[in-house]
Amino acid sequence: MSFDRSVKIAPSILSADFANFGAEIRAIEAQGADWVHVDVMDGHFVPNLTFGPPAVKAFRPHVKTFMDVHLMIAPVDTYIEAYAEAGADLISAHVEAGPHIHRTLQAIRAQGVKAGVVLNPGTPAEAIAEVLDLVDLVLVMTVNPGFGGQKFIRSGVEKTRKIRQMIGDRDVHIQIDGGVTPETAPLVVAAGADVLVAGSAVFKGGSVDKPEIYGANIRAIRDAAEAARA
Ligand code: DX5
Ligand code: ZN
Repeated sequence: MSFDRSVKIAPSILSADFANFGAEIRAIEAQGADWVHVDVMDGHFVPNLTFGPPAVKAFRPHVKTFMDVHLMIAPVDTYIEAYAEAGADLISAHVEAGPHIHRTLQAIRAQGVKAGVVLNPGTPAEAIAEVLDLVDLVLVMTVNPGFGGQKFIRSGVEKTRKIRQMIGDRDVHIQIDGGVTPETAPLVVAAGADVLVAGSAVFKGGSVDKPEIYGANIRAIRDAAEAARA
């Protein structure tokens, strides 16, 4: 994957039909998804439980684009190898998940996968200043992680602007996760974000039998975001 700052839409399969992941992944990719975002939760770091490595491994053959695995787990390091072996293209870890984010990011890259660092809404941009040379992506959470369908937290916009400046000319993506819609996407893209995760805003109203709704939802986010660049 060569680096660019074009707008990329990464549907979160947390909002998909949990009895039908293969077909859901194929549907969103056919309808224009650029990446597939997989939310891993442990019922400890966040109050919800989702996908272990075997589940992620089962998603892998269906993903033709790029599988982005967002780990909301603590501890992280013990599970990096398993999620890399499950086929993640990128693994992101929260700066709040432990005292050793630097080591965690090194461990992710040592597996030969891309590394992302994540900031909760309550964590300042400065928390990642010392690890920018170790990452391929910074994820700015615009909801408190754990659930889809929450309201966008506005302070993420100014934080994104700050992080875009901190990144300078490094090839580091800025990803936004939480409450992304055609209304909020332009705000973060104007501030410097390029990868937009969206769960409810992509899956709402659609299904594998009505995949064109996914397509329309993805297009609405992308069009609004790209207009903010023009
Ligand atoms: C939240 C997850 C998100 C979530 C986004 O903990 O990290 O990826 O699925 O859902 P929406 O787009 O519905 O806010
Ligand atoms: Zn996520």
